[in-house]
Order: sequence, then structure tokens, then C-alpha cells
Amino acid sequence: MADMANMQKYQQLDAIIEKHRSEPGGLMPVMQEAQDLFGHVGQDVQEYIAEGLGKTLSEVYGVATFYAQFALQPKGKYVISVCMGTACYVKGAQAVLDKFSEYLEIPVGATTSDGLFTLQATRCLGACGLAPVLTINDDVHGRVTPEQVAGILERYKE
Ligand code: FES
Repeated sequence: MADMANMQKYQQLDAIIEKHRSEPGGLMPVMQEAQDLFGHVGQDVQEYIAEGLGKTLSEVYGVATFYAQFALQPKGKYVISVCMGTACYVKGAQAVLDKFSEYLEIPVGATTSDGLFTLQATRCLGACGLAPVLTINDDVHGRVTPEQVAGILERYKE
């Protein structure tokens, strides 16, 4: 059953669809705004958009999967973004990313089944002096070593 907050979001989605319905190429902005609204564009949201815009589900799904900016499942409470830009890479970012993957038991791009953590690799975060760098939501962690990974996760689990 959809709860109240979710119902309100679908009402907002109706307004978004209405706003872009007559635009050629309106699908992209609707998808972007839907993602801002829900935090992801899962199958239920895709179906709703397809119906609202008179598109097929495969058209919507095609856009959702083609563009890396769209998340097909809800992201975790904490999104861990490990920078894989050049400076971070040469300072060992891969080993840090692998450690997170090992501890969380998920591949890069996935979310833990308890919904707590999403692990992703990202481009240069603009803090190369702190390489290797990662962010967890709005927190920036610099000069991270694989040995620190377990401790960092513990802090967020509390
Ligand atoms: S390469 Fe990682 S912050 Fe720039």
C-alpha cells in the first residue's frame, strides 16, 4: 500500500508529467524530475511515467538504463562515492573501493539489502590534494587507506 508521503509524490509526478506532456523530448526532463522526487526511477515510477506520457514501458526503460544518471533502485541511506579520478587512482583508490565492496558484500553500483549503504565509483571530486578521496553523503574523507574502511563504516552504522 502506498503511504501518504508516497501518494503526495505521485501527485507531484502527475504535475511534472502534465507540464512536459506536450513537449517533444519531454521524457528526459520528466525522468530527471521524477528521480529528484523519488531518489530513483524504479519500475513502478517508470510504468507511471510511460502511462502518463503515452509511451511504452520499453521506451522509458531504455532511457532509464542508457543514462548512468538514473538509479533503477532506491539508493541507500548513505551513499559512498569513491573517487576514481587519476590522482585518487594512483594513490590507491581501487584498493579502498575493493575493501568497501568486500565489507559490504556488494558490487560497485549496488545497495546493501538493509538499505543502509550504496557503493559507487565517481569521477574527480575536485579534492585531489586529499587523494584518495571519498564522500559519504555530504561528508568528505581524504587520504583514506583500505585499513580505515572498517572503522569508517562502523561510524555510519551507529
Ligand atoms: S582525482 Fe580524486 S578528487 Fe580529483
